Amino acid sequence: MGVVEDVLPQYGAQETIGLKAIILLGAPGAGKGTLAEGIKARTKFIHISTGDMLRDAVKKGSAIGREAETFMKRGELVPDDVILRLVEERLDQGSPDDEYLFDGFPRTLEQAEMLSASLRRRGSRVMAVFSLEAPRELLISRLCGRRLCRQCGASYHVVNIPPRKAGICDVCGGELYQRADDQESTILNRLEVFTRQTESLIAYYEGMKVLIRVDAAQHRDLAVEAIVGHIRKLPSV
Ligand code: AP5
Repeated sequence: MGVVEDVLPQYGAQETIGLKAIILLGAPGAGKGTLAEGIKARTKFIHISTGDMLRDAVKKGSAIGREAETFMKRGELVPDDVILRLVEERLDQGSPDDEYLFDGFPRTLEQAEMLSASLRRRGSRVMAVFSLEAPRELLISRLCGRRLCRQCGASYHVVNIPPRKAGICDVCGGELYQRADDQESTILNRLEVFTRQTESLIAYYEGMKVLIRVDAAQHRDLAVEAIVGHIRKLPSV
């Protein structure tokens, strides 16, 4: 998903980082998609967002999309077998040198274990997991205010990152809309689902000594800078 180009700082050429797989782990609204855009602008990581892949499948009306839609509308997790199929298919399309930036995946212990096994088969592993941490009230206000462009996917916030003209995308002139799961009651359920089903992954990756905590309440450029600074210091595979 894109962010408004003219508010992203200008970076130099993208660099190869030498880390095979990193993960952005965080509650809804922590800024996974936003920070992924900033990291992508600086590096050659391939961005894999299961949320974006699922929304695309729903839009196309594919079998996976039809299966996922009911869960997404309620703010529940889509069953692991659906997600694992989706990610495995995507990884099969890649080459051994690809560097992956996972956003919103894994979300359960089963997904995390599948990812480790799948990367191991490809001679790779999870090398850093960035836990994006921000207060709950901030997460709610970010999600309630998020608006997206129907045409190009650029992401705005009605207060933090408003478009120049209300309801219209600065990048392509497309119409802005609110995601179906960004209604307050669904947001509250998504946060509850995160606490119940995903938060345990923080301890899981801490145990693997790959967890790095990031203040996700700070300005997004500073958060991107902090993450890129960390990944530059990590040893490559
Ligand atoms: P997904 O699309 O992954 O949604 P999410 O985890 O709920 O996260 P969001 O996309 O809402 O938030 P984000 O952290 O990316 O924040 P963003 O950068 O947009 O998943 C959607 C659904 O799909 C799930 O509920 C589930 O049903 C299903 N699903 C997906 N993956 C799955 C999986 N692996 N297993 C099972 N089910 C799965 O930022 C939000 C707003 O805040 C924006 O307006 C942005 O501009 C603003 N903002 C962000 N960072 C900052 C900052 N630093 N400063 C100021 N504003 C900021």
